[in-house]
Amino acid sequence: MKEVVDRWSSRRAFILAVTGAAVGLGNIWRFPYVAGENGGALFFLLYVFFVLAMGLPVMIAEIMIGRAGRRPPIQALAALAQERGRSAKWSWVAGFGLLTVFLVLSFYSVVSGWSIEYLSSTVQGKFAGASAENISHALDVFLANPWLVVLNHSLFMLLTMAVVAKGVSSGLERLNNWLMPLLYLLLVVLVIYAATTPGFGEALKWLFSPKFEELTPLVVVNALGHAFFTLAIGACALMAYGAYMPEDQSLVKAVVIVAVLDVLVAVLSGVAIFSVVFSHHLDPTSGPGLMFVALPIAFSAMPFGIPLLGAFFLLLLFATWTSSINLAEPMVASISTGRLSRPVAALIVGLCVWAAGLLPALSFSTLANVRPIAGMTFFDLVTSVPPDIFLPLGGLMIAWFAANVLDPEKAAGALGVGTSGFWLWLHITRYVAIPLVVLVLLSALVPKLI
Ligand code: PFF
Repeated sequence: MKEVVDRWSSRRAFILAVTGAAVGLGNIWRFPYVAGENGGALFFLLYVFFVLAMGLPVMIAEIMIGRAGRRPPIQALAALAQERGRSAKWSWVAGFGLLTVFLVLSFYSVVSGWSIEYLSSTVQGKFAGASAENISHALDVFLANPWLVVLNHSLFMLLTMAVVAKGVSSGLERLNNWLMPLLYLLLVVLVIYAATTPGFGEALKWLFSPKFEELTPLVVVNALGHAFFTLAIGACALMAYGAYMPEDQSLVKAVVIVAVLDVLVAVLSGVAIFSVVFSHHLDPTSGPGLMFVALPIAFSAMPFGIPLLGAFFLLLLFATWTSSINLAEPMVASISTGRLSRPVAALIVGLCVWAAGLLPALSFSTLANVRPIAGMTFFDLVTSVPPDIFLPLGGLMIAWFAANVLDPEKAAGALGVGTSGFWLWLHITRYVAIPLVVLVLLSALVPKLI
């Protein structure tokens, strides 16, 4: 397959697209509840460490491969490996990535669908003056309704595939420019409000003062998985975006900006949500419903809270949309080469992911008692195994490929920071990132195997 000629329209557009991929449910929905289940501050500390020590080098590796290959992931890995006289089977790494994005998108669409429902409930005034108890109850009632959950999941899949069918859209770029900063602003407003609530101090302590005695292999592996999930790495999704990167752009600068923004959004969201949790004596370990209960409670107690809550869900929906487009892109780009047109590829991918998404969608109602492994529902499985195990495993193989298989000259060219910068990246990747990922994965898996 020939190299792609598409490019992001500007350097800024590339940064926005990668930030759009990174910032999403992972920061605002997943971070608070997974931190809640893993003890708070220790998880946060490990997550930030993993973003720096492994996330950044792997993210660079992934985009670098896309930029050097200038093809969709499967074809890029095969071509780059063959150029070095290595097996085209390296493209299986991208195949594993596609399986991962497929599974992640299946639940991502379901939970984004919850945001559509919450936006509509807010507009209908259902949260105005509601008590904390009623708000908690409303989530259970909604999730128990299979039709409504599937309807919203379907709507979100349509929204995603409509954009991916057309290709990287300049319309989306422009929206990205405005809506993401607005979301950050709203989060800042929320944190300022949170600072006036009685639970604020406790929230800060919970998030920033670690209890090292609570360290377990599971906390470590969950933090690693979350770092990869929130940065959108390990599944070849950013590799697909790297293929369209302009020639004259600094990769390192883009990656650092994205990582800083990504951690910042998680911190803002965590502080806001845990302030509500502690002010209202909610349970921080209550799981995936945490954000959907805490935020309506917080906003409904604020001046102009209901319109702001509506704005929040709208912006959240936009943030999840830009991430789901990124999740779908590698699948659609990989199969829409040759005879299959992009719209048809998007239709096929969309239908398959939609069908797979029915399993997590129905896990709170029709399939609530179906627990295939370790007493976990389909929702529990798909929201934990692909992010916590598949992404680090995929990231490991991507980093290995970039550091050991990819032509060093080509890699250095794609990185674009000169020989000493390349040397630094190579050594951090080989001797810090790769061994650490192996160590963490083994520490989590080995006790389970014996
Ligand atoms: N980073 C996205 C989020 O935090 O919501 C999720 C994601 C996107 C994960 C793309 C993986 C991926 F390849």
